[in-house]
Amino acid sequence: MTTHPVGHGATHALPSYLDAHHLGPWGIFLQQVERVTPYLGDLARWVETLKRPKRILIVDVPIQMDDGRVAHFEGYRVQHNTSRGPGKGGVRFHQDVTLSEVMALAAWMSIKNAAVNVPFGGAKGGIRVDPKQLSLGELERLTRRYTSEIGLIIGPTKDIPAPDVNTNERIMAWMMDTYSMNIGETATGVVTGKPISLGGSLGRHEATGRGVFTVGAEAARRIGLALSGARVAVQGFGNVGGVAAKLFAEAGARVVAVQDHAGCVYREAGLDIPALLAHAKANGTVAGFADGQALPRDAFWDTPCDILIPAALEQQITRANAHRIQARLIIEGANGPTTPEADDILTDRGVLVVPDVIANAGGVTVSYFEWVQDFSSFFWSEEEINQRLVAIMKGALDGVWQVADEKRVTLRTATFIVACQRILRARDLRGLYP
Ligand SMILES: NC(=O)c1ccc[n+]([C@@H]2O[C@H](COP(=O)([O-])OP(=O)(O)OC[C@H]3O[C@@H](n4cnc5c(N)ncnc54)[C@H](O)[C@@H]3O)[C@@H](O)[C@H]2O)c1
Repeated sequence: MTTHPVGHGATHALPSYLDAHHLGPWGIFLQQVERVTPYLGDLARWVETLKRPKRILIVDVPIQMDDGRVAHFEGYRVQHNTSRGPGKGGVRFHQDVTLSEVMALAAWMSIKNAAVNVPFGGAKGGIRVDPKQLSLGELERLTRRYTSEIGLIIGPTKDIPAPDVNTNERIMAWMMDTYSMNIGETATGVVTGKPISLGGSLGRHEATGRGVFTVGAEAARRIGLALSGARVAVQGFGNVGGVAAKLFAEAGARVVAVQDHAGCVYREAGLDIPALLAHAKANGTVAGFADGQALPRDAFWDTPCDILIPAALEQQITRANAHRIQARLIIEGANGPTTPEADDILTDRGVLVVPDVIANAGGVTVSYFEWVQDFSSFFWSEEEINQRLVAIMKGALDGVWQVADEKRVTLRTATFIVACQRILRARDLRGLYP
């Protein structure tokens, strides 16, 4: 491994816990930072700070299973950067979660929070577990033990978790209760995405999908794509994809294809989204929906459509399928769905990509509102929340669009320019401790 002498010490190019040949999603983030560095001017001298998470906690999460066995799960909490405020980011329960993935997701939270200018740093957590294999009691014990283990570094002014893939309001309620029990007082502000009756915010459940719709509709307007009748394909039909599909359908678009982990359904005239949501809720998947044609999952990428919304997992749009995509506009609901190679292919083909770090920032924006409401114990109306959300999302998109035009770069690079400058300016002003 190469080393660069710095003063009397030395800085290794990569932290020792990373393997240069298997960087995973973290490698994508590093490439994105490399791309933006030439645009950072003087602040580029701090860029190394983005290439190393501030703090990583790996925890063993042992729980008693219903059959009496003790099972151990691997959990993480990563705080990527806290120059602009406390860490903020979701918790993912998934069997394939890795440290590299959580590091990348934490870093994208730093970028996203800076891009929409909410006063948070970036963090993320996860447990390597398939929660569908657990009973409700096992899930609760897992959540509570994990929360206790990461309790060392989270807190309303330190790092505030939220829902992500396979975590929801109920899990946030258990996290809030566990943290509160451990510190001896009710601390609603320790997590966001809570039930409304426990300090949650109106509008939070729909916020990410609403943000995807807001920036998507605005981007469509700017490229002259009418929403009425536009064909939309959505990958992932959970919190983000389900709400985004509903809002696009309500705006007159035709949601022609929906793919999830277990199937893909297609209807040229547009799927009945409320009926599909009810089907997915009852069956855990869109597969088997009667009022649409079942497609092989991979055929999703060839679907004739105008707008594509990846809203499932990362690394879905790759060198292998980027050529097949027929959409003019891609709105990234998921985090990290497009690899850098695929990004280049899409740019060359003239497909506009509204990147995750702006498109799915609606969730964290309303999480910010929730956190503020918890601190002040004063709660806002849903109308007020949605108005503020739309204003922030539109303002942020407008800002990065201008930078993209000025510097002739993609919206992703423009968003990274705006966000990295904000983070590194904070770093610069704070100076290095001690
Ligand atoms: N929930 C939020 O507020 C929020 C905010 C910002 C970003 N995100 C990101 O959005 C994405 C989805 O999150 P969510 O909260 O909607 O999760 P969710 O658990 O509610 O839904 C996930 C959906 O993805 C589908 N899916 C899983 N694996 C798949 C696969 N291999 N192929 C196709 N579909 C698959 C599932 O079937 C499900 O429909 C994630 O990347 C997450 O990080 C979520």
